[in-house]
Amino acid sequence: MKNLIYMISMLFLLVACTEKNNEVKEESGNKKVKMILDLDTGIDDALALAYALAHPDIELIGVMASFGNVTMEESVTNTLALLDMLNHAEVPVFKGADRATGEKEPFHVLEISRLIHGKNGIGDVNVSSSPRTANKQDGVDFMIESARKYGKDLMIVAVGPTTNLNEAIKKEPALKNLVGKVVIMGGALIVDGNVNKYAEANIYQDPVAANELFTSGTPLTMVGLDVTQRTKLTKKDTQIWRNLGTTSGKIFADMVDYYIEAYNITSPRLNGCALHDPLAVAVAVDPDLVKILTLHMRVGTSQEDWGRTIGINEKMNDPDPNVSVCVDVEVDEFVTRFMDLLSQLFKAN
Ligand code: BDR
Ligand code: CA
Repeated sequence: MKNLIYMISMLFLLVACTEKNNEVKEESGNKKVKMILDLDTGIDDALALAYALAHPDIELIGVMASFGNVTMEESVTNTLALLDMLNHAEVPVFKGADRATGEKEPFHVLEISRLIHGKNGIGDVNVSSSPRTANKQDGVDFMIESARKYGKDLMIVAVGPTTNLNEAIKKEPALKNLVGKVVIMGGALIVDGNVNKYAEANIYQDPVAANELFTSGTPLTMVGLDVTQRTKLTKKDTQIWRNLGTTSGKIFADMVDYYIEAYNITSPRLNGCALHDPLAVAVAVDPDLVKILTLHMRVGTSQEDWGRTIGINEKMNDPDPNVSVCVDVEVDEFVTRFMDLLSQLFKAN
């Protein structure tokens, strides 16, 4: 009898401990960071979106649409469709700029972008269109309002041209010190560009905005080609998603296979496709994945250095450099986390 009473009380203790643990988990679960993504959706942008939705420490509070791989309007359409497919129709999508800083005409998507991302931006794969439309609020105002509301709990990750982000900081200069982190995918410090010898695509498409942003004193993390080109996906990986037998698994596998084929034409030495944009999201929440070099940086806007990201000679010995440039990455660790998170997400959708 004594033994029975002892066992029952131990059982109660165990249940109480488990509940307490769950409470602690829920509490830490509540500590998710708020994130705004700025996307020119784009295949690797779609992967960044999926990564943010799948990551347990991220609450995606909104997406801002940019021109770049596609027009700004196409970015809205693609993002809404992907969010709905992934069962996250609660995430609002906002319109951003449709052209580069100071340009009179809307952005004209480059032929090379249509080749790499497909005519519709998502590998010419058919994703059911969303009944939703873009939120009525202007995207720049949403960014500013969110910065005021969430302060250090907010991260902004921009993986297209930096036009929207730069506009937000120009409109509300306090934003740069209000938010927890600003991360961009863009630039190339110690490797060649991917548009030409010096320039990376996101920066190349609006170097004026990027230069204003880099020299604005905004604490910035630059996730450039130096690291993103080292993180790759192959058809072996996409087969894992295909085998899940779900809609999202098949659609993402089809999209990424298209992207891999395009890379086989443009960058055959990579033997796969680069995970540019999802790495920027990963670095925002898991900075241990990279090694950084802090610098005062500028972006070339003259004809001969259009879009080149480079240190400022005159400021080499100045204190408090504001740009944290990623120069090394834990490739295997990142790709494993990426595959685990996305496979879980696609399994459920
Ligand atoms: C960047 O350019 C775009 O094609 C990709 O989406 C990525 O953001 C890589 O240079
Ligand atoms: Ca992009």
